[in-house]
Amino acid sequence: MATPPTTGSLYQRWVAPLLCQDEGADAEQLSRLTLAALGAASTRRHWPLISGSLAGLGAELQRRDHRLEQTLFGCRFANPLGLAAGFDKNGVAAGLWHLFGFGFAELGTVTWHPQPGNPKPRLFRLAAERAALNRMGFNNNGAEALKRTLERQALEPPGQRPAVLGLNFGKSKLTSLDLAPDDYASSLELLTPLADYAVINVSSPNTPGLRELQDASQLRRLVERLRRLPACPPLLVKIAPDLEDDAIDTIARLAYQEGLAGVIAVNTSLDRLGLENRRLVQTGRTLAEEAGGLSGAPLRARAQEVLRRLRATAGPALPLIGVGGIDSPQAAWERITAGACLIQIYTAWIYAGPALVPAILKGLQQQLDHHGCRSISEAVGSGLPWV
Ligand SMILES: Cc1cc2nc3c(=O)[nH]c(=O)nc-3n(C[C@H](O)[C@H](O)[C@H](O)COP(=O)(O)O)c2cc1C
Repeated sequence: MATPPTTGSLYQRWVAPLLCQDEGADAEQLSRLTLAALGAASTRRHWPLISGSLAGLGAELQRRDHRLEQTLFGCRFANPLGLAAGFDKNGVAAGLWHLFGFGFAELGTVTWHPQPGNPKPRLFRLAAERAALNRMGFNNNGAEALKRTLERQALEPPGQRPAVLGLNFGKSKLTSLDLAPDDYASSLELLTPLADYAVINVSSPNTPGLRELQDASQLRRLVERLRRLPACPPLLVKIAPDLEDDAIDTIARLAYQEGLAGVIAVNTSLDRLGLENRRLVQTGRTLAEEAGGLSGAPLRARAQEVLRRLRATAGPALPLIGVGGIDSPQAAWERITAGACLIQIYTAWIYAGPALVPAILKGLQQQLDHHGCRSISEAVGSGLPWV
């Protein structure tokens, strides 16, 4: 009897061909359709027929190995690989991400006010470069809707979930920078009971002025405001790849002084990373002329540099999450050995499909075997080479 097709092979056959050119299937619409299906499955994941198919998905994509487990800022991670923020902005598939093999998923960015984001088109494939340009502008249904969406899925409480769930918070577009701390605080206060950890996103390039909140005094004011909430989950800050070295050092020190749970590096880049003259087929303009943040393979080298810099300044005590251009087991290993306790993927996961998660985890297991490490935490910041 023929073996049934795997999710990975179905993706390769039906989805990957749509992604190997810039034009054709609209990137945002593909994501929207996928999330609609996943959202429907997540709320019904205990129904017999659906739970059977989902168990098959888990069996194919999950890799259990106690050497990949870590406990960081009070959260137990089954493995170090997470889904980066921005894919599941409204948290519709929160109950499913562990079945894709992820040890954690970051939901959001959520803002206090629901907002439509920037005009479309606002997400572009750069297929040949395995990259994307986006200027979504925090399109999301708002904090209250996220709360309802998560409650509807009847998730296990924080600390008891198969995958850790982080919530990523941004500033509403219509809130002034001056009032930003209250805007973040309103969202966080509402959603704290549902979050394993919370991320202060001050690095999206698509909300005017947002990145100014990375300045030390503004960031300190923001963190201190959130700290005054009656309850606050472990707080991390997510930074841009476009910061100068001095600014990276300042944030590393501030994170340490303020007792932040960690730093996530990096968000998408305003730098064109050598692709200034690359034209978007949809608009006919070059990347130098287009607004938005770059992600994917061209971001890898810069993301690695920022991570190294953070580690050098903050030392091993501050947990770092590495994200940006990770698209292979080797890139994952190199980010971890440069100092990331955890790593996240987005763009490469879209291009390569669900099989990328077990492929990365398998690669990490092989490196642990090779180097004789008993735990992934021994590899973090070790500088051990990829062999
Ligand atoms: C379409 C798209 C939307 C994104 N939205 C968010 C977001 O809402 N919040 C956020 O912190 N990062 C967002 N990101 C950035 C990713 O989380 C990640 O930091 C970045 O893409 C680099 O990782 P990658 O090269 O693996 O994609 C988005 C990225 C993409 C491609």
